[in-house]
Amino acid sequence: MAKSMMDRDMLKVLYSEEQIKARIQEMGDELYEQFKDRNPLFLGVLKGSFIFMADIVRACQIKSDIEFIAVSSYQNGTSSSGVVQITHDLQQDITDREIIVIEDILDSGNTLYFLKNYFMTKGAKSVTVVTLLDKPSRRVKPVKADMAGFEVPDEFVVGYGLDYAQQYRNMPYIGVLKPEVYSK
Ligand code: PRP
Repeated sequence: MAKSMMDRDMLKVLYSEEQIKARIQEMGDELYEQFKDRNPLFLGVLKGSFIFMADIVRACQIKSDIEFIAVSSYQNGTSSSGVVQITHDLQQDITDREIIVIEDILDSGNTLYFLKNYFMTKGAKSVTVVTLLDKPSRRVKPVKADMAGFEVPDEFVVGYGLDYAQQYRNMPYIGVLKPEVYSK
């Protein structure tokens, strides 16, 4: 395939399409074993999780339904403001539901710390955190993933749903952005 304009902004590829696909299938298999009789609600955190969500639900063929919530805390910067805003709320009652939260990345933990509490106050029976990427070196809130695809170093990662200033989400792999791109 021809190199895209976006490829030129990448310092390196962290995880290829093939690596991501293989890891997601392993995660789907694990979730299948854990949740096959529990009719969980897959709850994707927009926007970043939209591609991972589509792939993980197909990698885990269990009776389940799907919901989304949209939050934002980065406001186009490269570090979390700490203030989490719900920009699109749940559209259904989650009382007594077993929630599988689907995230693209767990970074400072601000988003998931807020969301876990939010879902519990809305009456969820359980909240299981599944993230494709985990960046534990940046954590400021006490949040742990129940399942993480890859542990990533403290570099600016984009692609496969992750953005910089709303761009690069449609790259099929996860790459590290060249510093000159975000320090312009
Ligand atoms: C990103 C990502 C997570 C969150 C993780 O969302 O999708 O939701 O940041 O970072 P944290 O652990 O430091 O809170 P963002 O607020 O950038 O919105 P987006 O999903 O629309 O990209």
